[in-house]
Amino acid sequence: MLKRIDHVAIIVRSIEQALIFYRDILGLVPGKIKYVPTEHVRVVFLHMGGPDGSEIELIEPTTPNSSLVRFLEKRGEGLHHICLEVDDIDAALHEMQEKDVLLVDQPHQAAEGCAIFLHPKGTNGVLLELIEKKACKSTNTLLV
Ligand code: CO
Repeated sequence: MLKRIDHVAIIVRSIEQALIFYRDILGLVPGKIKYVPTEHVRVVFLHMGGPDGSEIELIEPTTPNSSLVRFLEKRGEGLHHICLEVDDIDAALHEMQEKDVLLVDQPHQAAEGCAIFLHPKGTNGVLLELIEKKACKSTNTLLV
């Protein structure tokens, strides 16, 4: 079911400020900064090279009362989630439900595909995103 680590996401107060380290000091090349209206965030992916290269995602919440802003206030900047690529998000969802894994949401349109989040309570403390690199059949709103 799992193919590879797709990206590691870091929540930041300001993408522009974070790029001073990730772009200018580490030398990673950022893609375009995208606004994801379903999640009330701006995101940018920094490519690690190669056709199957993993990426670092910087996430900046844009809505003051979003749960991501609450996450930032409570825990500060830092690791937000790890994303694993799957072949088939519907099959992955079905398998997680069969195995009673605690889910955060149903498949939703993320910046780079159709994704679900697994709750940190069931993953030893890390928010895990599973993603299939395609558009979702139906768009659901992210609940966290
Ligand atoms: Co992500």
